[in-house]
Amino acid sequence: MKALVIYESMGGNTRRAAELIGGAAQFLGAETEVCSVTAVDLHQLAQADLVFMGSWTDGLFFAGQRPGRVGRFKKLPWLDGKHVSVFCTYAVNPGNTVGGLAKVLAGKGAVIVGGKAIKRNQIDNAHVAPFVADQFEALVQAAG
Ligand SMILES: Cc1cc2nc3c(=O)[nH]c(=O)nc-3n(C[C@H](O)[C@H](O)[C@H](O)COP(=O)(O)O)c2cc1C
Repeated sequence: MKALVIYESMGGNTRRAAELIGGAAQFLGAETEVCSVTAVDLHQLAQADLVFMGSWTDGLFFAGQRPGRVGRFKKLPWLDGKHVSVFCTYAVNPGNTVGGLAKVLAGKGAVIVGGKAIKRNQIDNAHVAPFVADQFEALVQAAG
């Protein structure tokens, strides 16, 4: 089982969330890499059984939320049935940031396994590890 965690982060929160997701995936037995959306190793992407992709929430805090710098995800290659789990970090209200990123990635051929918005003061193992375990379970269901 191989997992890849791809993040877009401006201030470091989403990178920290990505690293915790990577740690939890490794704990569950997956060979795991973590990288910025601007430095994706295409071989690792091709090899991954499950890819976590996450960004920060950009918007007007209570309206117009969207994944930050989503254009960077749009530049990824065609995802061709790749199983992808989406996450975002946010301060007060993520709106539909997770759904927005999922839509972009599904438009690139990804199969969305699930997703989670992580509040920036809850970027810790207690909040992240159960999400990762859930996504592993959902992948088994999705892969039949
Ligand atoms: C320009 C800008 C707009 C933001 N808009 C929102 C928002 O609409 N809703 C929200 O909950 N957080 C918003 N945030 C907070 C960030 O999403 C949050 O702090 C996130 O964890 C930052 O991740 P990063 O450290 O990886 O860049 C905004 C932050 C910035 C810089």
